[in-house]
Amino acid sequence: MRAISRFVPARVQNLSKAYHQFYALRDVSLDIAAGEFVSILGPSGSGKTTLLQIVGGFIRPTSGHVFFGDADVTLLPPQKRDIGVVFQNYALFPHLTVAENIAFPLRARKVSAAECAAKVNRALATVELSGYGDRPVSKLSGGQKQRVALARAIVFEPRLILMDEPLSALDKNLRESMQLELRKLHSQLGATIIYVTHDQREALTMSDRVAVMHAGRIVQIDTPRALYSSPVDHFVAGFVGESTLVPTRRVGSRQVALGPFTLQTPREVPAGEELFLALQAETILPCGAEDEPGSNYLSGVVTDLVFQGESLKGAVRLEGGTSINFRLPSHSYNARSLPQAGATVRLKLHVQDTVVVPRNPEAKADI
Ligand SMILES: Nc1ncnc2c1ncn2[C@@H]1O[C@H](COP(=O)(O)OP(=O)(O)OP(=O)(O)O)[C@@H](O)[C@H]1O
Ligand SMILES: [Mg+2]
Repeated sequence: MRAISRFVPARVQNLSKAYHQFYALRDVSLDIAAGEFVSILGPSGSGKTTLLQIVGGFIRPTSGHVFFGDADVTLLPPQKRDIGVVFQNYALFPHLTVAENIAFPLRARKVSAAECAAKVNRALATVELSGYGDRPVSKLSGGQKQRVALARAIVFEPRLILMDEPLSALDKNLRESMQLELRKLHSQLGATIIYVTHDQREALTMSDRVAVMHAGRIVQIDTPRALYSSPVDHFVAGFVGESTLVPTRRVGSRQVALGPFTLQTPREVPAGEELFLALQAETILPCGAEDEPGSNYLSGVVTDLVFQGESLKGAVRLEGGTSINFRLPSHSYNARSLPQAGATVRLKLHVQDTVVVPRNPEAKADI
């Protein structure tokens, strides 16, 4: 639709935001390339909305700067920033029609009626709501309202689109299809998008990169794959994927202990730090008695096994007393080959998947 060059890179530099003594943001820096889709992921209260609102100009930072391209926009009001925003609660005008809602930012920019109509129609087509222009928004479903909000955010071809948990009110199926639609829309528009969510799966599904926040700081910013396979600390490891965090200790440069088991690690284990093994459920695989190179082995008793449709979720109490979770694709196990609750199982974990992380000193261990 639009040339990618229209969209600008955004840069956040040493941003802090204090409310009295409390810091909602602490020295946050972030570089977003033109056309990039970056998610801000973190638990409630970690500062995601505060960061997005500062980028949008709705809140002033206590210190630090926001740049769009080379321009310092830190003190610029939102209406002068040329950004599209989609917030959680839609913020549509309930007494207006779909088309009137979408036309709102164009009217505010004094766009002519003819051009306005053409742009509204194009935006409606982009969000697959052609023909809905005359409907009152109050009569639309949640997903349709969400798409109207999206159309309103893109209709004036903003340089940057900010979205704060835009799908959180939708049910699972609609949320998942909207995630894919947003991704498609992003590649069509080539827009720079900053997307706030506390749903790690959503962040991994949609983003080029994900910034993980904790207590007002960005702990790690990386591609979804890198976050998943190389978390920087136990907080990120516990927040991304479905992992069991188990305290462990270094017993060699590439070896850690888990109860009576010694596990090889793919990387050098840091010395002198409090460490955790981050065991992703789907990397723990029941196996036979034979060893293969490149794998670690554990054994224990199955304590739990639940059929969840596409997968089987279970728990094993390892020798030594630690419990870990596993998840298997259910289609690859028939009733006979299934590990049964109460049975002793041998488990395999690839060395590559044996992720050891240090404690994040600011985060609780039990996440
Ligand atoms: N106006 C304000 N005055 C005082 N404290 C505030 C204000 N706005 C936000 N905070 C605090 O700043 C912290 C970060 O809030 P923020 O809304 O950015 O979190 P969030 O990550 O978006 O959380 P959620 O996932 O619940 O939306 C919270 O502890 C919040 O209570
Ligand atoms: Mg928020």
